Amino acid sequence: MSLTRPIALGIETSCDDTACAVVDGDGRVLSSVISSQLEAHRPFGGVVPEIASREHLRNWPAVCETALQEAGLELGGIDVVAATKGPGLIGSLLVGLSLGKAIAYAQGNRFHAVHHLEGHLFSPFLRAAGEKAERPPEEFIGLVVSGGHTSLFEVKGDEIITLAETRDDAMGEVFDKVGKRLGLPYPQGPLVDELAENGDGERSPLSIARCSDGSLDFSYSGLKSQTLVEIQKLESAGVETHHGETAATDVPSPVLNLLAGFRKAAVGQLVDRLERLRRERPVRQLAVSGGVAANRLLRPTLEAWSRENEVNLRLVSLLYSGDNAAMIAHAALLRDERGLVDDPLEVDAASRIPL
Ligand code: KG4
Ligand code: ZN
Repeated sequence: MSLTRPIALGIETSCDDTACAVVDGDGRVLSSVISSQLEAHRPFGGVVPEIASREHLRNWPAVCETALQEAGLELGGIDVVAATKGPGLIGSLLVGLSLGKAIAYAQGNRFHAVHHLEGHLFSPFLRAAGEKAERPPEEFIGLVVSGGHTSLFEVKGDEIITLAETRDDAMGEVFDKVGKRLGLPYPQGPLVDELAENGDGERSPLSIARCSDGSLDFSYSGLKSQTLVEIQKLESAGVETHHGETAATDVPSPVLNLLAGFRKAAVGQLVDRLERLRRERPVRQLAVSGGVAANRLLRPTLEAWSRENEVNLRLVSLLYSGDNAAMIAHAALLRDERGLVDDPLEVDAASRIPL
């Protein structure tokens, strides 16, 4: 396979995954390595920031070496270095960003400090390993649903406009919190999704939150509280709700139905906002990304909605829905193409930064 220059090395350490990837100038993912820290955090039921930074430092050499090896390259074959600058856990971000800055400076590479959400936003255009990425359209609507964000963007050439974001909890965060309440191990989102597959949401309907001021903003804390109250009610009625890593067959059906109702309302809120946006203005291209985009109800629901409304949907591949470094390298290459560049001696990590 002949590679197109520039070739980018991507680094992503914003939370608990240590990731490194190599992507070529056509957006071909030559390698994408993700080292999970799940085992280190699992005893605590969530990510412990201090542990995360130390694990990144420990995992980095092997992760980077594997990514280069799989791409068939050495560090000297890299033209562009990209690392996530934020938002995320500050200690974790500092590890990846400092490594990226040091590599770029030492080798004289062009450097890009990439916003994590910009990585997710363009990730639906990445294809399977070795295939050229699709060129993002000049204008599209981007929906990013993750553990930290539920955001709707409008991309117009160089401009990224925020149309809506969550006023409280992010969608993934609420999946995690509901799962934690049931005693499920971290990360609870995919497990709640799996249990919901086995329930009947019609038997336990929950309402879709709207902002009273008519804004398109999201809000998930009400749904979270509603679900936690329903769990409490089931417990009072003697239903066993606390479960470890049990199969769905061991979970009582009222709990499964409640989770199905919860998931339906959570996904329903996304559709509600998209539908209202479509009534306000034409929506032709929609790109959906982020860890929660792996959800088994979200995918067919947004596919059906897009078909019905003649919206051209790009739903991120399951390869790149969760945090990964290919999306960071890809976003950096798109910036590089437009002549943008960052000075590795100037940029800093930040736990909260607007896109
Ligand atoms: O994008 P991501 O990997 O990290 C952040 O930037 O936050 O998203 C992780 C989030 C977690 O909250 C996780 O529980 C959630 O995505 N998640 C899911 C599913 N898979 C991952 N939530 C619901 N259903 C899923 N299948
Ligand atoms: Zn993310």
